[in-house]
Amino acid sequence: MDIKDPFDHPDLGRRFSGKAALVTGAAGGIGRATAIRLAAEGASVWCADLDGDGAAATATYITERGANARSSQVDVTDPVACNGLVSSVVAAFGGLDVLGNIAGIGGSRHTLEETPERFQAMMAVNAAGPFYLCVAALPHLLERKGNIVNLASTAGIIGQAYCAAYCASKHALVGLTRALALEFGRSGVRVNAVCPGGVNTGIIANFAPPEGASMSLISRSFLTRDMQEPESVAAMIAYVASDEAYYVNGAVLSIDGGTTAG
Ligand SMILES: NC(=O)c1ccc[n+]([C@@H]2O[C@H](COP(=O)([O-])OP(=O)(O)OC[C@H]3O[C@@H](n4cnc5c(N)ncnc54)[C@H](O)[C@@H]3O)[C@@H](O)[C@H]2O)c1
Repeated sequence: MDIKDPFDHPDLGRRFSGKAALVTGAAGGIGRATAIRLAAEGASVWCADLDGDGAAATATYITERGANARSSQVDVTDPVACNGLVSSVVAAFGGLDVLGNIAGIGGSRHTLEETPERFQAMMAVNAAGPFYLCVAALPHLLERKGNIVNLASTAGIIGQAYCAAYCASKHALVGLTRALALEFGRSGVRVNAVCPGGVNTGIIANFAPPEGASMSLISRSFLTRDMQEPESVAAMIAYVASDEAYYVNGAVLSIDGGTTAG
């Protein structure tokens, strides 16, 4: 089923009725699709992104369809801003049930041409940002037995040539997910990672093989089917974040057309 707009599918259910969600990266791509999916299923959704106008546009899209959403500009690499963001969400919605760490950056490059600045930026956005938000959100998630979904990647499961910095950052995010799942699972908070392969979003243009790349080294990452749409990943995130997935904790779930199957 191709669900372009979940608001057109009331039969999807209301798994998030009465719940509050914070979604980063909500200006576009997977984050936007996730915010819309959770809202269509009843959640109050806070849309956060470095692109504040884009986040506001997503929130407007949701409110125009009769659901509840707010938005703000945030740089997830700033721990003070992350604390402030979670406080704003809790003040507005009365608590927090779902944290979706979707914001991310990435790109491919010959590793010998990689720079410390780019490496540090990927670690900051893809690993440190989610860490700051998890720490800020966990006291509230513990109160409501909520959960966290971290958007990793196939690059968090397997190595990918010419993507050393991105792979390092997404493996770090998977490690963070597993450690938190162990530490907080018995207290009722689940933490999981969703790992897509090729999704039709803006970031994909950064992953073209660099000039002179050996195609034999990257053929394994090629998909067996066409690229998926962000709504496909949003549907998996919605399942993982819902109470239906009550026994899913510390899971690293691939949605990649089989890329990491072997
Ligand atoms: N598209 C794919 O093929 C693919 C595959 C696997 C994983 N992912 C991951 O999915 C996530 C979403 O990416 P997407 O594909 O939707 O691409 P995207 O570029 O459309 O979305 C990424 C969003 O993150 C935001 N962002 C970047 N830096 C930020 C910061 N410092 N603070 C707050 N927001 C910031 C951007 O403004 C953008 O809206 C990323 O973590 C990405 O690594 C994407």
